[in-house]
This record gives sequence, structure tokens and C-alpha cells, in this order.
Amino acid sequence: MNKKGSWGIVGMGVMGASLSRNFAAHGYKLSLYNRYIKGKEEKVALKLARKYSFFEEDLAFESLEDFVNSIRKPRKLILMLPAGEAIDEILQNLKILLQKGDIIIDGGNSEFKDTERRASFLKENEIQFIGMGISGGQKGALEGPSLMIGGDRKAYETVKKDLNNIAAKDSKGNPCCSFLGSGGAGHYIKMVHNGIEYAEMQLLAEVFEILMTYFKLDFKLIQNVLESWQNSYSDGYLLRITSTILSYYDSEGSNFVSKILDKASNKGTGAWAAISGAVIGSPNSLMTAALHARYTSSMKSKRIEFSKTSNFTKKKSSISLKQLKKVYDLCRWINHHQGFDMINTACKEYNWKTELATVAQIWSEGSILKSKLMETLGTSFCNSSSIMKMETFQNSMNKSQKDWNSVINYSGGNLIPIPCISASWNYFLAMTQPFSNANLIQAQRDFFGAHGFVFIDQKENSLNHGPWNR
Ligand code: 3PG
Repeated sequence: MNKKGSWGIVGMGVMGASLSRNFAAHGYKLSLYNRYIKGKEEKVALKLARKYSFFEEDLAFESLEDFVNSIRKPRKLILMLPAGEAIDEILQNLKILLQKGDIIIDGGNSEFKDTERRASFLKENEIQFIGMGISGGQKGALEGPSLMIGGDRKAYETVKKDLNNIAAKDSKGNPCCSFLGSGGAGHYIKMVHNGIEYAEMQLLAEVFEILMTYFKLDFKLIQNVLESWQNSYSDGYLLRITSTILSYYDSEGSNFVSKILDKASNKGTGAWAAISGAVIGSPNSLMTAALHARYTSSMKSKRIEFSKTSNFTKKKSSISLKQLKKVYDLCRWINHHQGFDMINTACKEYNWKTELATVAQIWSEGSILKSKLMETLGTSFCNSSSIMKMETFQNSMNKSQKDWNSVINYSGGNLIPIPCISASWNYFLAMTQPFSNANLIQAQRDFFGAHGFVFIDQKENSLNHGPWNR
């Protein structure tokens, strides 16, 4: 066969098909593969190739061996498969079919430790492996995603030009694609991205509920408010899609969102992010609160049951839209602060040399997290490694005490849970408190477990015990 594909894409689901179309739109000849499952997945790659004239029908496969043989050497493959077993299975097969110097990229949401394990497995046959986080959903994959690369640096250099071509471009025209570190760095940073995303979504949900009580359930007014915020610093992809979502009504005039069952699902990356923060000791209370808010929401029958035994009543309190917007903006700063701090801590833990400015830059376009704030952070991280040290944040926070009080009182008075807003407030208070109550925690630990503590005037590595009569 003389007309070989310059890239091979495995998995023709929504994301795989969209990414393939993106590559093809940039002039790449592609080999497409989708597995065969009788009655369920038949001729999937071929059907896609027939649908779009830029694909070639004889480069669409159901045989993995034929697919591999149709790709130009050194072969470059992207796996667009669900995280987990499917990846391990295909790698077992590809390891036999591929040769030294070939490159496999996992473009799914894999767990970063899995990526590192798989890289070692493929290294036995000198096959290079890249873990690539992709953000932007279906539209991003098609029109230009944000790409987070981790793994083999040499392999990255080989594929860099092509990935830059298909990636989103930031406001200065730079590709939103970068090498972020060895091993599982790309997938780790995508996981943190998703954690931040969970909290951004939850913050909007909390704002939405506050606005529902404020406007007494008028969706059109809520949509107008969120639309007006788009002309300000609050602007971002998630804010925009939220107001768009609210503009949908059914044929009877009911708002579409009001018809959706209030139980949130998840696919796991938020839980991994929450766990990782706990493991490396990096507070990520917003993404954790957002995750738990989804879990709580899913306990619908218990919520109904317990609501019958609660006798709390609503209390009058007031709030202005300006105050709510200000607190929303500040919560987003804190959410981003925790996420980026987590990346910093992980870099030390796993020996990655990731620049936060680069992460913010590649998230500033194409990604679900793209926003005015992210664009600012791309520049601000060049001068400061911490959002809490940034003047714009400090100035804005220092003028906001009344606004926080109003939002917290209003939500409490109206019996609205605000896990992410209150996590932001508590984190800020804790992080700006020179003396904490942890001296008592240390005493308690020593009392029951003889774990020891340090006296105020001692070096951190000394260990003492109290005079407790246990
Ligand atoms: C992503 O953004 O990668 C996933 O779509 C997140 O999915 P989840 O919200 O279902 O976990």
C-alpha cells in the first residue's frame, strides 16, 4: 500500500471522530480504527470515512493489524478510548504489532499512575508513550482543543508540530498545547483541570440557586443576569454555556433545566483529583466540596426523607446582585488558586518542571476552563507563583468582607447549601490566620497516641510529649 496514513486514530466515538476530523481538516491523511462487536459496533470507522469526503475509505479498519500496517513509520497513534481496561487491552495487542520508535498517545482521561505503568510496559519494546489530556469536549476536539502533554520528551518533539497544528490558539496565536512533564504529568494536570471544572460548575449551580430565590424562579431573569456578567471579568466558557442552557424551553413553555432530575453524575476524574490533593497534602476543598455536592445530590430519596424531619424555617435577609457577582469572582480566584497550588505541590512530589504560566496559557483557549481569569493568569503567573500573592486578588478580597457576609447570610437565611462558596470563605480565613487552633489538635494527638508536638520556640524537627496523666 503506497498511500499510508500519517496518523492512526483508535476509537471512533464522539471524541475520536471529532479529533480525526480536526486532523483531516489540517491536511493529515488518517488511518481510522474502531473495534468490531457484532450487532453493536460494525463498520464504525468505514461509516465515518464514508460520511466525510476527506477521509479515505480504504484507510478505515476493523482489523488492528491491517490498521497498524497502514500507518507510515515511525507510526504515530492516538487512542481515543474510555479510561481503564480498554486501554490496557489495546496496548497488549499494539505492543506485539508495533515496532521500536513507534509512538502511542493516550488521549483519554486516564489515571496518571496508570499512564506511568503503561509507559514502562511499552518501553520493554522501545515503544514511546505519551499521556495527553484533552480539554474542550466534542467542539474543542473538532475545532481546536487544549492539549496537556506528559511522558516521553523525545516522542513529544516528534509529534509537537502536528499537535500544535490541531490545537486551539490563544489570543496571541500561540498553540494551546505544551509538554508539561515526564510520566503521567499530562494526565495529572488534566485531572486537576477537571477538579477545577467541577468547582466552577458547582459555583455556578450555587449562584443559580441563589438567583432562583432572588428572582422567585424566573429563569429568563437569571439568564439575563448571567449574560450581563459575560461583559465583565466573570466571563468564561462555563458561564456562557450556563446562560445558553437556561435559554431553552419546551413546547409547553417550561424551562428545560427545570425538567432535569436533580441528581449529578460523574466519571471519576473529580474523585481522583480530590484524593490526590489529600495524598500530596495540598488543600483542594473546593473541588472536593463540588464532588461531594454531586454525591449528596445523587441521594435524592434520602434528601426527600430527611427534608420531612427538618423544621428549619426561612429567614429574611438581603443581597444585591453586585455582591453576589463579586463573591462569585472571588470564589473562582480561590478555586483556581487551590488547583494551581496542587499542580505546584505535585511537581515537587513527582519531579516535574511544569510552569504554571504555561498551564494557564494552554487552558486559556480551547479548554472548558477558558475564561478572562485564565487569560490573566497566563500573564500573572510569570511574575508570581501564587494567586493569593497577586495584587489584583488581594485588593479585591480586602474590599469584600460585607459582600461575603451578605451572600453567606442570604444563603443561610434561605436554606440554600453553598458548599463551594463557603469552602472558599473558610479556606481564605484559614490561610490568612497567623495562629490556628492546630495546637489543640497536636495536644489531642499526643494525649491519645503519644504522637508528639513541637513547642512554639523550637525547631520543627524536635518532638515533645505533654505532661498528660493518661
Ligand atoms: C471531562 O471534562 O473530561 C469530563 O467530561 C468530565 O466528566 P464528569 O463531569 O462526568 O466527571
